[in-house]
Amino acid sequence: MPWTGPGIDDALAFAIGAYRERTPQSLAALEAARAVMPGGNTRSSLWTAPYPLSIASGAGCRIVDVDGNGYVDFLGEFTAGIFGHTEPLLARAIAEAHADGIGLSSHTPYETRLARRLVSRFPSMDLVRFANSGTEANLMALTAARRVTGRSRIVVFSGGYHGGVLSFAAGHAPVNVPFDFAVLPFDDARAAEAEFAARGSEIAAVLVEPMQGAGGCNTASPAFLAALRELCDMHGAVLIFDEVQTARMSLGGAQARLGLSPDMTVLGKIFGGGLAFGAFGGRRDIMEQFDPARPGALPHAGTFNNNRLAMAAGVTACDALLTREALDALYLQGEAFRADLNACFEARGGLFRVTGMGSIMNIHATGPQEEARLRLRLLHLRMMERGQYFAARGLIALSFPVGVAETDGFLAAVEDCMPLVAA
Ligand SMILES: Cc1ncc(COP(=O)(O)O)c(C=O)c1O
Repeated sequence: MPWTGPGIDDALAFAIGAYRERTPQSLAALEAARAVMPGGNTRSSLWTAPYPLSIASGAGCRIVDVDGNGYVDFLGEFTAGIFGHTEPLLARAIAEAHADGIGLSSHTPYETRLARRLVSRFPSMDLVRFANSGTEANLMALTAARRVTGRSRIVVFSGGYHGGVLSFAAGHAPVNVPFDFAVLPFDDARAAEAEFAARGSEIAAVLVEPMQGAGGCNTASPAFLAALRELCDMHGAVLIFDEVQTARMSLGGAQARLGLSPDMTVLGKIFGGGLAFGAFGGRRDIMEQFDPARPGALPHAGTFNNNRLAMAAGVTACDALLTREALDALYLQGEAFRADLNACFEARGGLFRVTGMGSIMNIHATGPQEEARLRLRLLHLRMMERGQYFAARGLIALSFPVGVAETDGFLAAVEDCMPLVAA
């Protein structure tokens, strides 16, 4: 159905009114937060107009807001929450690690155990180090690449997101670290070739997500990634795969599915078993720069780099939850769900389409930019009304507790919403 001008504005105003009626305590929570945090916010990605939900509790793949409204959680903590909200094995692992003492001012057995598991999953990583977030891990990987090559230029891609200070969604973010970035179009091997032809001897690293997650779940073509591999080999640059989101695509991440081996890999989110986490690893000669016993070693400090709770949760996550079978099943479930969603949208006028890889996907509204923006907001609000929770920007990340009943419920809600968002 064509857009009829003010219709969509009216539909949106109505849906916002209904949201306000249902969620007064979320607004009250934001007002209280505003007194002590700018805009009541300490994590920019959570902001959505008119105000975000405040969530009181979660169990499995269900969450409840502070007004008592229940939702099926299709956002899964922006991909970090693959285990659901109350995984007993993780709860036990964390409790056991805590019972043995927390913050013991030294090495613990947990970090070696987790490191062993990660290097065995990712053959491209000879050695690994831990950090507190994906952002930190990316910063350290870039630093290592700059040091080992003696160069400073870093190739990244438009729409890429590698952390709060490494964001290329709309060119350069004002808070980005002041590295010498070349921001190239994504999935465009020719543009990368041209950059290397012009400045190959200055390029320290290429940093790329096999699928741009925050950028809208745009998947890189295997040919593009293979071209980057070749260019880095030819020019002596370090190829870094940011697999903070895509590591869940198989036991060995997206790189195993693609059959490609980067020089360095950055991990985060799921390998902390739900707690704050980051890791970077790669070729021995690159990583050994961090060996503190070596003269001139690169320092990489961090009070919580080896924090016992995240390390212990990560070990249990690897052993009991992030198994080959579980990850392959979730991948296939996600592929099927995305196909079903696309079929549903196509059959009802093609107002939306879904991109992604495996269990991570993004709903996009089609059509002219402003109309699409309003229509996605409208769908988001209408889906929340039906107890379906995903990111306002359209991101969906399945977690293990999401089953057929939940995905069928989501599809039914989408069908129900279509007449309401076609204004
Ligand atoms: C691909 C990618 N890299 C890095 C990061 C940053 O991780 P963190 O939020 O743990 O700093 C994210 C976070 O969403 C991400 O999606």
